[in-house]
Amino acid sequence: MSKPFYITTPIYYVNDRPHIGHAYCTILADTLARYHRLAGDRTYFLTGTDEHGQKVQQAAQKRGVTPQQHVDELHHSFKSLWPTLDVTNDDFIRTTEPRHTRVVQHFLQKLYDAGEIYPRDYEGWYSTAEERFFTEKELVDGRCPISGQPVERIVERNYFFRMSNYSDRLRHHILDHPSFIRPPHRANEVLGFLDRGLEDLCISRPKSRLAWGIELPFDRDYVTYVWFDALLNYVSAIDVLGDPARFQTWWSVSHHLIGKDILTTHSVYWTTMLMALGLPLPQQIIAHGWWLIDESKMSKTKGNVVNPLSLRDKYGSDVLRYFLMRDMVVGGDANFSEAAVVARNNSDLANDLGNLLSRATKMVASYFEGQVPPRGPSEPIDDELRELFEGLPAVVCGLVDELKVHQLIEEILQAVRRVNKYIGETQPFKVVKRDKARTGEILYSVLEALRFTAVLLGPVIPRGADKLLASIGATAVPTLAELHWGDLSSGAPVKVESGLYPRHEFVVSDAEGAAADAAENAKSGAANTGAAKKGAPATEVAAADLPTIAPFKAMIEYADFQQLDLRVALVTAAERVPKSKNLLKLEIDLGSETRTMVSGIAGRYSPEEMVGRRIVVLANLEPRAIFGITSQGMLLAAGDKTSVTLLSLDGELPPGTSIS
Ligand code: MSP
Repeated sequence: MSKPFYITTPIYYVNDRPHIGHAYCTILADTLARYHRLAGDRTYFLTGTDEHGQKVQQAAQKRGVTPQQHVDELHHSFKSLWPTLDVTNDDFIRTTEPRHTRVVQHFLQKLYDAGEIYPRDYEGWYSTAEERFFTEKELVDGRCPISGQPVERIVERNYFFRMSNYSDRLRHHILDHPSFIRPPHRANEVLGFLDRGLEDLCISRPKSRLAWGIELPFDRDYVTYVWFDALLNYVSAIDVLGDPARFQTWWSVSHHLIGKDILTTHSVYWTTMLMALGLPLPQQIIAHGWWLIDESKMSKTKGNVVNPLSLRDKYGSDVLRYFLMRDMVVGGDANFSEAAVVARNNSDLANDLGNLLSRATKMVASYFEGQVPPRGPSEPIDDELRELFEGLPAVVCGLVDELKVHQLIEEILQAVRRVNKYIGETQPFKVVKRDKARTGEILYSVLEALRFTAVLLGPVIPRGADKLLASIGATAVPTLAELHWGDLSSGAPVKVESGLYPRHEFVVSDAEGAAADAAENAKSGAANTGAAKKGAPATEVAAADLPTIAPFKAMIEYADFQQLDLRVALVTAAERVPKSKNLLKLEIDLGSETRTMVSGIAGRYSPEEMVGRRIVVLANLEPRAIFGITSQGMLLAAGDKTSVTLLSLDGELPPGTSIS
């Protein structure tokens, strides 16, 4: 049965240029919306722009245009960006639209008539940067606690919303609905905020100070506080006043996706506003973390704000989407670097998926004249592969509900890696010489696995998924209910596809950066084939130009090999090593003892992804100090710094198990 699903992003300040944080949130909302559609759910996905407030007024003044002209021009930088990142929002709301301002004024009047909004004189510290008052206690060194800018002492008559009346009700709602705020530690943060005492909320600004906003319907000398205005977009877009049935359908299944910095406005201001209006609360508020650059916040002053457009132009929308979804655990922070984007592309999209498609389509072209082969006799190994893929849709849907997008991608990629292994085990390139029918079954299984992969990964990489399907003579299925193993038609045309996701090379242009990384790698023992050329210009180089195979080393005796004490280890804790780009500090369980290890894998693996993972370590390597930490062992990984890939184990072996 189709369930409805309503998802929203924050509405972005129209003055800002879109950056990678905005792109992340919107792509995550899009990915979730696409997975819900694929599951057969009726879905509504809303995004938009927040267009009132002081900063807009000031920016328009500076340009010598009216605020309306200013926002009419600027909102395009968001509205036109989303389709280029394959974002499929159903609606784009602007807070200057009449459908929104009408709702804001209606609700203001309703609350005023009910005595929920009242006037009083207020004296406090006003921050122009944040467009709000702060109490003496809240200031940090006498400055705005959020922006760090100076504050002004202002006495002013204003209108207040009786937010404090709703503190207990809100506390109970949070406690009674454990999945209302996700991840759970954010709910605790909100409860802590409530414990410190809730005050009434100033919801007006005198026009003498700020004229660009929605006028209060009961006092023409004031405009509405920008947050009170903006939050209402979530209900004005679904026609709360005009179409109660439509509103009810979507509102009862509403999910607000937001960044952790706007948790209070959503979990406290918005929820109490809804309570006062007699409207139900949203189903869920999901707070994601931040993309950091070198472990710190992006900022215009540091000049390190990442523009999603330039990455899209360089690598394509799929690669950017894939990286953002795969490399951040929803709720945690993650470090952004272009090198990590390239590494993720090379290892997962180009190597694992792209190579598989290329191999499969080439074999079909040469053994079956470019047509999906007829099915031949099946063997247990084929059934095993089919069962793995047939089980994936349920796994994916479960992980979507748990918001574990990074993990669902990894599950699918593990299955793709299994197909590569299946080809190695079944050897169609040899079997074809003696048994064409059997070869047909093997390649049919590979193509079906690829079709399942395209459908299941489509919400993350829509372009590549379509291209993949077209190359194997398949079409997209409307929903997962129609995804059946065996539906791929024998005889359908297959085209050789060798360029699904080309490999890229990220070369550090900054000589210092390269030298520092090289030094770090040398110290940490991470494999480095010298891809980062000191002082070389940043450029993309075709895979064929790169020396990917290192020369073989001299032969050793078996006894020499036996000296290596290789073990299975379980990672129990992981964190980044401060001031290092590449290093993670890992706590590992080796069965009979625990150890600390430092490893140069942070460009590819986040600490969250490492915890709980079983890895292979060399346990008898002499300990050595790396960045002041004694590393007691070395983990085994393949690839270079940008595409390092951990060795994985086929099964959950107990920590400490010997490898020989
Ligand atoms: N206009 C308000 C939201 C009103 S919603 C009723 C606003 N806009 S914003 O443009 O400043 O921020 C929008 C979102 O971008 C926030 O959720 C914020 O967390 C997110 N991000 C800003 N920088 C970010 C990163 N570096 N990483 C991830 N997201 C971050 O707030």
